[in-house]
Amino acid sequence: MIEVRVVSRHDEARDICSYELASIDEQPLPAFSAGAHIDVHLPGGLIRQYSLCNHPEERHRYLIGVLKDPGSRGGSRTLHEQIRPGASLSISEPRNLFPLVDEARRSLLFAGGIGITPLLCMAERLAHSGADFELHYCARARDRAAFVERLQHSPFAERVFLHFDQEPETALDAAKILARPEHDVHVYVCGPGGFMQHVLDTAKAAGWREPCLHREYFAAAPVDTGADGSFSIRIASSGQTFEVPADKSVVQVLQDKGIEIAISCEQGICGTCLTRVLEGLPEHRDLFLSEDEQAANDQFTPCCSRSKTPLLVLDL
Ligand code: FES
Repeated sequence: MIEVRVVSRHDEARDICSYELASIDEQPLPAFSAGAHIDVHLPGGLIRQYSLCNHPEERHRYLIGVLKDPGSRGGSRTLHEQIRPGASLSISEPRNLFPLVDEARRSLLFAGGIGITPLLCMAERLAHSGADFELHYCARARDRAAFVERLQHSPFAERVFLHFDQEPETALDAAKILARPEHDVHVYVCGPGGFMQHVLDTAKAAGWREPCLHREYFAAAPVDTGADGSFSIRIASSGQTFEVPADKSVVQVLQDKGIEIAISCEQGICGTCLTRVLEGLPEHRDLFLSEDEQAANDQFTPCCSRSKTPLLVLDL
């Protein structure tokens, strides 16, 4: 855990603020790579993940962008309403689940709304290393697009393409941009679920292979839990067996029994809670594992995933 101070806060667009964080003892912060995020521990015990969007060479600060989301589970609202310059926060060290592929000949970056944050950092990195890339940034309207001025005044401004729903002449033509799949060109997508689905479906329809497609979700799609039933879990090391009722997650049941599993997002996005499964078939509800990893059924995310079989034996 790192203690940081909020050095400044800026309105970047309608409902989007950036927060500049520096270490309390003025020491350099841990290095990070483009695409990395930090966990921010908020008042009230909430933990939320935010991508770092400053230049990845910087060590004197971290910059995060936060959308005040009307569907917020409390994190973005707390930041917007309670956190001002001078405030102290605890954060994790940066972690990267959305790294750039170093050997890519070319990179195509697609950002939707606040999904610009990790891709902005990637664009800085790619430009710094002289790599070939394009950044397509989609937003509902100009006043909802954060960091536009920074992009337009950047050394890579000519590689940035802005697309606004309210300006049809700027519409994103994903099919055209993704028309020619190539094995050494990599596609990166971050944004709302519908936007990501559109870009990824378009890429797959054009023949892009999964290893060239990279995505980071920042919120899980709502899951219909109406038909959820109960199942049992067994701890392999002790043989203890517990019932997981329909209205509790595996993590909650384990916590009630005094067995702590590290968690962060609690939505199946970050992979922090990943646990090996020795017997039984998990019902995967995460966005962290790839399709192949889910199909292997040897690990699952107990914060949100459930079971297709009456019993899951966990490697705990
Ligand atoms: Fe993030 Fe489970 S806590 S995937």
